[in-house]
Amino acid sequence: MKVHVVPPGLWLVAWAWVGAWVRVGGVAMRVLVTGATGRLGRVAVPRLRDEGFTVRAVSRRPRDGAGVEWVVADLGTGAGLAEAVAGMDAVLHLASSPGRRTHEIDVLGTRRLAVAAGHAGVRHLVYVSIVGVDRVPLGYYRHKLAAEQVVAAGPVPWSVLRATQFPGFLADLLRGASRLGPVLGDPAVLAQPVDPGEVADRLAVLLLAGPSHRTEDFGGPEVLRFDEAARAWLAARGSRRPVVPLRIPGRLGRELRAGGLTTTATPTGVRTWADHLADTYGGTGGR
Ligand SMILES: NC(=O)c1ccc[n+]([C@@H]2O[C@H](COP(=O)([O-])OP(=O)(O)OC[C@H]3O[C@@H](n4cnc5c(N)ncnc54)[C@H](OP(=O)(O)O)[C@@H]3O)[C@@H](O)[C@H]2O)c1
Repeated sequence: MKVHVVPPGLWLVAWAWVGAWVRVGGVAMRVLVTGATGRLGRVAVPRLRDEGFTVRAVSRRPRDGAGVEWVVADLGTGAGLAEAVAGMDAVLHLASSPGRRTHEIDVLGTRRLAVAAGHAGVRHLVYVSIVGVDRVPLGYYRHKLAAEQVVAAGPVPWSVLRATQFPGFLADLLRGASRLGPVLGDPAVLAQPVDPGEVADRLAVLLLAGPSHRTEDFGGPEVLRFDEAARAWLAARGSRRPVVPLRIPGRLGRELRAGGLTTTATPTGVRTWADHLADTYGGTGGR
C-alpha cells in the first residue's frame, strides 16, 4: 500500500485551521464515530465536537452525553448500521474487538460498515490501525491488516492512519504482567507510546483533508525499552516490585525487539510516557 507523506509543517498548519475550516463552510461536517466509548473514542468525540464537527457516536448500548447524538449499532451483526451512517459526510471507524470475535467484528464488521456507508453516499471513511500490523506476527494484527484491506477495497473513498500504542494500553499490559508480583517481560521489547488526544487531533486533520489513502504513521515522541517503561511505571506508583526478564521467543520476540511496534515517521506526538504517568498518578503513588 502506498504511503502518502504530508510535509511535517503542514500538520501543524492544518491543525491550526481545523476549527476555522469546519465552521467557515457554514455547515458543519457530519461524522459518525464508531468505537466512541473506547480509549481513543472517549477523547476523539469531545475534541471533534469542540472543533465544530457534528458528531454521531456509536455504541452497542444506548447512551447519552458528551453533547453528541448517540446511536446503537453492532458491527458483529450489522444491526443499526444503515441508520447510523444515514446522512453522514464521513465515518471515523475506531471500533475494534481485540479479545473476542475479532474476525467477525474487525474484518467482517468493517466490511458491513463500509458497504452501509457506500449505500448511504458517505464520502470518506477514516480507519485507525496500528503501527506494525504488517510486521509483527500477532493474530489481532492480522485482523487489523485485513480490515485495512477491506477499507481500501471498499466502496467509500478512504484514509488509514496507523498509530503506535496508547499509554493506557501499555499500563494495562504492565498491570497484567505484574499479576504474579514482579513485572515479567522481555526487557528489550521496544514501544513508542502516543497520546490518544494527539492521535484524535491527527484524525480530525485527516477528516478535513479528505480521502488520503494510507498516510504516514504516527508515533509518540520517544522509543522506550520495556524495562525502562516498566521501571518508570513502578516508580510512579511507588512500587518496589522487581522487573524480571522473560525473553519472548521466536519471530514475535525478534520483531518486537527490532522495533516492529515503532516508527521513524515524523512529526511525532509530544506527550511522553512520563507525562502520562504524572497525569495518572500525580506523584501520589496511587494504584
Ligand atoms: N489501544 C492502543 O494502544 C491502540 C493503538 C493504536 C491503534 N489502536 C486502534 O484504535 C482503535 C481504538 O482503540 P481503543 O483502544 O480506543 O479501543 P477500546 O478501548 O478497546 O474500545 C473498543 C470500542 O469498540 C467498540 N466495539 C466493540 N465491539 C463492537 C461491536 N461489535 N460493534 C460496535 N462497536 C464495537 C466498543 O464500543 P461499545 O462497547 O460501546 O459498544 C468500544 O468503543 C482500534 O481500532 C485499535 O485497533 C489502538
